Order: sequence, then structure tokens, then C-alpha cells
Amino acid sequence: MAKESKKLTSEGTPSYTIPGLTTEQGAQVARLLQDRLNALTDLHLTLKHVHWNVVGPHFISVHEMLDPQVDAVREMADATAERIATLGLSPVGTPGALVADRGWDDYSIGRAGAIEHLGALDLVYTGVIQDHRAAIEATDDLDLVTQDLLIGQAGQLEQFHWFVRAHLETSGGQLTTAGATTEVAAKAAAGRAGAKRKA
Ligand SMILES: [Fe+2]
Repeated sequence: MAKESKKLTSEGTPSYTIPGLTTEQGAQVARLLQDRLNALTDLHLTLKHVHWNVVGPHFISVHEMLDPQVDAVREMADATAERIATLGLSPVGTPGALVADRGWDDYSIGRAGAIEHLGALDLVYTGVIQDHRAAIEATDDLDLVTQDLLIGQAGQLEQFHWFVRAHLETSGGQLTTAGATTEVAAKAAAGRAGAKRKA
């Protein structure tokens, strides 16, 4: 397909929205949901990327753990996009618009060991969950039905985050990646701890 400069957007005010909301409120909720849609689409693509790139002794358990997470997060993205449409605006699901609008960088790790990837995924989930919780706060006075959708998603995301973190936890209950603020630092910390456990 030839390159076009036209950028798809969920901006603007809908001509109609959900009964009980003003069109302004509908637009505000839809904008908030577009950011969550971007995060969820980014997350299920990143989880597949890890599914394909994980190597080493824990390959099969992590490879197989991730596919149900991909499926569940794809469902969350679908429900979020359909809520935007229900609010009267156009959900944007194209990759270029996602990259242009998102406030975070691409996942930075290619082929790596399972524990290293899980160290980096710990930070990915932390970011998505923090932003989901901020969106839950923001919908408190705006739209409780959207808030309910986001709360259900957050509960599931937090459980998946635990699945990831359980691999990084010591028997004393400490995370081996504690204090790491970048995916590369978390990968290195998780890798060092994994090597120590094997020794
Ligand atoms: Fe696969």
C-alpha cells in the first residue's frame, strides 16, 4: 500500500454517545480508552515477541505460559476498542498510529534467556498496570461502566504480573530485579540471580 500522510485519530467529539453522558464526557472517556487500547495492543504483540525469542533451559514453560496471556490481552484490546465505538468515536488500531501516540519505547530485548525476558516483562507489566489504575481513577466521576471494564482487566493483568514475578522471587520473598528501572537493567539483574541459583 502506498504511504499516505493522513493520520487516523480517535480525537474529536462524537455526534452521539452513551445515554447519561454528554458528548464531551463521551469524548473524554474515549480518549482515555484509546491510550489503554494502545497499551494493550502493544502488550499482546510484546508477549508474542517474547514467546518467539525466549531461549534456554526454561524455554518451554515460559513459551507456553505466554500464549494464554496473549489471548486474554487481545480480548481486552477488543473490548476496549468496542467500548470506544460504543461511545461514538472511532477506535484506532493501526500500528503507525499506535507508535506515534504511545508514550513509551519499544520492548528492547531480542533473543534471551527466560529469566532475563521475565525480568524485562516485570517492568512492562508494571507500566501497563500503573496506567490502567490511573485510568480507573480518572473514570471514577465520569463513567462507572467503563471503570468496571478497566477494573476487570486490571485484575487479570495483575495476576499475569504475578505469574511473571513468581519466577523472579527468592524464597525470602524478594524480587531479584528490585530497583531496576530499565528493561536492560532488569534483564541483567534477573540473569545474574539465575546464574547464582544454578551455581
Ligand atoms: Fe507459538
